[in-house]
Amino acid sequence: MRSNLRIGVVGATGAVGAITLDLLRERGYDAVRAFASARSAGSTLDGLTVEEATPETLGVGDLELCLFSVGTAASRELVPLAAAGGALCIDKSAAFRLQEGIPLVVPEVNGDRAHQNEGIVANPNCCSIPLAMTLAPIRDAVGLRRVRVATYQSASGAGAQAMDRLRRESSSDHDLRMDWEFDGVEFDEEEKIRAETRKILELPDLPVSATCVRVPVLVGHAEALWLETDTPLSSAEAREVLSEAPGLRIDEFPSPGKAVGVDEVLVGRIRRDTTVENGLALFVACDNLRKGAALNAIQIAELALRERSAA
Ligand SMILES: NC(=O)c1ccc[n+]([C@@H]2O[C@H](COP(=O)([O-])OP(=O)(O)OC[C@H]3O[C@@H](n4cnc5c(N)ncnc54)[C@H](OP(=O)(O)O)[C@@H]3O)[C@@H](O)[C@H]2O)c1
Repeated sequence: MRSNLRIGVVGATGAVGAITLDLLRERGYDAVRAFASARSAGSTLDGLTVEEATPETLGVGDLELCLFSVGTAASRELVPLAAAGGALCIDKSAAFRLQEGIPLVVPEVNGDRAHQNEGIVANPNCCSIPLAMTLAPIRDAVGLRRVRVATYQSASGAGAQAMDRLRRESSSDHDLRMDWEFDGVEFDEEEKIRAETRKILELPDLPVSATCVRVPVLVGHAEALWLETDTPLSSAEAREVLSEAPGLRIDEFPSPGKAVGVDEVLVGRIRRDTTVENGLALFVACDNLRKGAALNAIQIAELALRERSAA
């Protein structure tokens, strides 16, 4: 992408927005504008004056790329307007992820889908991204029959306010409860992981069973995986397959702490699960704000705009 590409970061005052601004600066993009709600309009952020995201400010055609990290309702309203104004929109909310005709992209897995857009590309959930990156090379090597995953998700996955709350609670005698995020019978997050993984991997019937838990960690999500494959794969073969996969880094004992600030997804504890036929067990950790959100979205944009200018 051109360094002077006119980029809008929408949700710039949030947890993902902050990392998005950092990454854009690191990569040398210098025509960036920051947008958020009316609550933050007029405040200053890294030398940028925050503008209110409205149909008028986003839809008038001034922007070439919009990176959205606002909630689902705000995305539903604003993303189509920005796209109609001519900006390529990468949306990190759940608003468009499962919508037919809108690509849901992890560049290392289905990057070829990034350019098949009509102005909107969806960025997957922060647990679906590392999961799909780990599963794709195994799918390609030996086929996937079943996936079970347990997540251990940090406070930052629930946004800047949740991070503040954890900071407050951990500096007091207050019990760390972390019981305030998910609701429903099968939690929304668990259904998202199943549906998004199926869409990204293009395996619409893949059995994916997830259990999602919030843990008192500030940044970095971890996932324990149990896979059943079509044909057997030894732990040594699995390690070789995963070590060659883009965006993954083998680490004997992945942890959220090791993953923070790292672009790659850490994969380790690779072992046979001998309790089932062709079973494999793994542990994964990922910076949810970086590869789980901001970085993945920027990589999508770089890919889509490269394809667009090449077309
Ligand atoms: N955190 C993660 O790990 C992660 C990973 C993947 C995807 N996501 C998704 O990314 C989105 C943002 O997550 P976050 O963690 O960054 O949340 P956050 O810290 O709560 O930040 C939300 C941002 O959205 C802005 N906003 C809220 N309502 C708005 C509106 N009506 N118009 C314009 N801006 C509005 C807020 O602005 P104000 O400051 O003005 O309120 C703030 O900048 C969510 O959809 C989330 O599901 C998050």
